Amino acid sequence: MPGTSPGLTETLSKEHAMNIMNVDYSTKIPNNVNLSEDRQVLKALEGWHPGYMNWWSDMGPEGFQQSLVYLRTAYSVDPRGWAKFDYVRMPEYRWGILLAPQEENRVIPFGQHFGEPAWQEVPGEYRAALRRLIVIQGDTEPASVEQQRHLGKTAPSLYDLRNLFQVNVEEGRHLWAMVYLLQKYFGRDGREEADDLLRRRSGDADSPRMLGAFNEATPDWLSFFMFTYFTDRDGKMQLHSLAQSGFDPLSRTCRFMLTEEAHHMFVGETGITRVVQRTCEAMKAAGISDPADIAKVRALGVIDLPTIQKKLNLHYSLSLDLFGSEVSTNAANAFNSGIKGRYHETQIKDDHRLEKDTYPVLKLVAGEIKRVDEPALTALNMRLRDDYTQDCVKGMLRWNKVISTAGYDFKLTLPNVAFHRQIGEFRDIHATPDGVLIDDATWKARHGEWLPSVDDGDFIASLMTPVTEVGQFAGWISPPKVGIDNKPGDFEYVKIET
Ligand SMILES: [Fe+2]
Ligand SMILES: [Fe+2]
Repeated sequence: MPGTSPGLTETLSKEHAMNIMNVDYSTKIPNNVNLSEDRQVLKALEGWHPGYMNWWSDMGPEGFQQSLVYLRTAYSVDPRGWAKFDYVRMPEYRWGILLAPQEENRVIPFGQHFGEPAWQEVPGEYRAALRRLIVIQGDTEPASVEQQRHLGKTAPSLYDLRNLFQVNVEEGRHLWAMVYLLQKYFGRDGREEADDLLRRRSGDADSPRMLGAFNEATPDWLSFFMFTYFTDRDGKMQLHSLAQSGFDPLSRTCRFMLTEEAHHMFVGETGITRVVQRTCEAMKAAGISDPADIAKVRALGVIDLPTIQKKLNLHYSLSLDLFGSEVSTNAANAFNSGIKGRYHETQIKDDHRLEKDTYPVLKLVAGEIKRVDEPALTALNMRLRDDYTQDCVKGMLRWNKVISTAGYDFKLTLPNVAFHRQIGEFRDIHATPDGVLIDDATWKARHGEWLPSVDDGDFIASLMTPVTEVGQFAGWISPPKVGIDNKPGDFEYVKIET
């Protein structure tokens, strides 16, 4: 807050603190669910809010909590203008509850209830299954905030710092979105689940987050970009499937979350593009012709392309695990009962019941990776994972374009789905990124060629020195092409001292 005296700033801070304590929940939570008249849910949210604020201060971004950050806040679901940009202190971010508008006469688009009116209340027989899906989705949201909490200290620029915090506050909002559903539709169990969402911790030995990838460390900014590209994209696929749900409030919630999620993947995609760009520029300027000459490239203070590939291998394989087993009766049940559909369900031209269809699944047959036709219903995880892989390829093409335009003969590629898996068909075998099956001894001897080693991690960590001057960027990453909210390059996205 430039121009204000320290005294005034202090008074304002106190006032802000007071406001957090005495929240008028009916007006403080931007919402389009008529919260002020929904006394019961309002009361439940009031009860949950202090725990959330404690969680945010313990597990949210480390440092910068009093800095003014140029953030967007969702305040409506109007596609022409759903967010406002302004300077906000993160603890004062207005985490709102926003559902996409109700579609009139929406019907369930798949499963055994195909064509029936969408449910506005939870059907008793699917209560447990729905609650579990909401809790699993909800659990990923705070988990990623926890995983990323140390990154502020090493941000390569104020622009990137701001993007990190934008992602963090929105993941916080996604937690609110799931908690709202739990509290509104699942009574006492829902309230207990909402409390548990604040109790689990990413990577904690006793009370970890529910899914593997959300218990991994995000040690550096290249990991952050890979995470937002690959792992947030798993989130996108899951949200798309849930947006098809016959349970209309879940569908509407997820549809709006996807609007925000797009930015997270943008951060990942452009982040990796900028890293690749900088590396290519530096190699060119130094006259390096072989991108695999790691020592020479690293001496320039940029991340060599083979190491970027290793990080990509890691994050892609961890994210594939999030889709669960290729063949799954749970997935079949969720579809049959109308609670979780397919990616772009309503645009698919088939009977949306899948009772007689098959789908090719990659399986291990007599020691070989083969496509085997399985009943389409049980193969739904595999199908969603295939859709995901196709979506991942797009960024890959952009990154490779940067490399080829710079004149280098090097291609980033997605590793084979059998590589480095902990869940599903390939969890008990080892494979190279090319999909060649190998024995334990070979894996032990060679996995450092394909996954980031301690040395690789140390090298990347050595580049992670913070840059906080306005308009400046760390030497290992290019500036973005355009600013956030069309701001110029020298815009002060985060006012660190206020
Ligand atoms: Fe999210
Ligand atoms: Fe996200």
